[in-house]
Amino acid sequence: MSTETQELTSMQDLVSLCKQRGFLFQSSEIYGGVNACWDYGPLGVELKLNIKDSWWRAMTLRDDVEGLDASILMHPRTWEASGHVEGFVDPLVDCKTCKGRFRADKLDHAACGKKPSLKPGAHGECELTEPRQFNLMFKTNMGPIEDSSSVVYLRPETAQGIFVNFLNVQQSMRQKVPFGIAQIGKAFRNEITPGNFIFRTREFEQMEMQYFVRPGTDRDHFEKWKAVRHQWHLDNGLRAHKIRFHEHGPKELAHYALAAFDIEYEFPIGWQEIEGIHNRSDFDLRRHQEFSSKKMEYFDETTKERYLPYVIETSVGCDRALLAVLCDAYRIEGERTVLKLAKHLAPYKAAVLPLMKKPELLELTDKVETLLRKKMKITRDESGTIGKRYRRQDEIGTPACITIDYDGLADGTVTVRDRDTMAQERVSVDQLLGYLARND
Ligand code: GAP
Repeated sequence: MSTETQELTSMQDLVSLCKQRGFLFQSSEIYGGVNACWDYGPLGVELKLNIKDSWWRAMTLRDDVEGLDASILMHPRTWEASGHVEGFVDPLVDCKTCKGRFRADKLDHAACGKKPSLKPGAHGECELTEPRQFNLMFKTNMGPIEDSSSVVYLRPETAQGIFVNFLNVQQSMRQKVPFGIAQIGKAFRNEITPGNFIFRTREFEQMEMQYFVRPGTDRDHFEKWKAVRHQWHLDNGLRAHKIRFHEHGPKELAHYALAAFDIEYEFPIGWQEIEGIHNRSDFDLRRHQEFSSKKMEYFDETTKERYLPYVIETSVGCDRALLAVLCDAYRIEGERTVLKLAKHLAPYKAAVLPLMKKPELLELTDKVETLLRKKMKITRDESGTIGKRYRRQDEIGTPACITIDYDGLADGTVTVRDRDTMAQERVSVDQLLGYLARND
């Protein structure tokens, strides 16, 4: 058997594995699917929860960061203040021949619907419309009357819920600058060119933290948060050579940013942003102060100064971080496909496998299962050869397979097989929890 290791080279291979193994399904598949929306299946939701938990712990198990869960629908003035009504637009062109719709600034990366080997507009038959500005925010109406006074937006970023609550959180929690507010939640963008599985979707989840600092100290805090965020991706198992920083040049900077770095991951589709770290200056608080006519200033009790803090933002897409984790973990080793997920992210921490469906083995299996279930998410699998069962667990990234066999009936031990090395060790049932925790 060949033991050559291959990494993921085609996103389609991952899409297939995710569907077959219950990580991700296309939304509304029975109706032909809805473009750029995905449903997390039983294992996908566990992985996603573990990623959110890992982010929440990294960001909030500290004195200087508070949590928040703001609503998706906000006062429409929020989006005027934030600049999204005016500025959150992409230039859009339509092709009258192939009926394709493209971003005018990304035509070089697009393919004509009729002749995919050509760029849109690159041949005589193709007729592109003049670019028009397309706002990426989804609009809906609040209440029963659908007129302009009832228009509200699905938030395109979670950050604004944090800005408008800055003083609520600071005062209720008696926080002193510098401090941060962290939030995980859904965001919606009517992307013109979504795709690449869950890389760019129209509904996604963000994990954002705004750190409020005294102006003049922003550069130092920016550097500290860059390092913290880089480490988080490494702790999730991404290999160091697959992630890098990309600094935004003046033309790339968002309307609110003084400085910005992306953390990029090398996907099978190339290097792409997974997280943004931005110095947003006092742009947002100043604009909300202006649009709401409410003071947003912080009062420093020690120096008796009032000022608008600057904001260092860290913003990572949960789905995109999860996609990077899956791409990085995916390996083909000889005849097995294995997800080498970091153990704290794996949907199941262990699988319990009786060698045969014999009553005496099932009795010990029940005992082991009950012992482990109290402490961790596990699965039990009784069907198929033991080799097939190992392969199934490898494919979903289960770090440990625990086999219950006849030797165990005599001496109270089980076999623990390690996902990555495939090495097997006999461990006493009494020691099992400690053993699995040590190998965490
Ligand atoms: N508050 C700042 C902000 O929203 P952004 O760079 O537009 O900044 C931050 O988005 C992160 O959100 C991105 O790095 C990416 O991980 C994720 N993200 C943005 N648009 C997305 C989309 N359409 N689908 C999936 N994730 C997206």
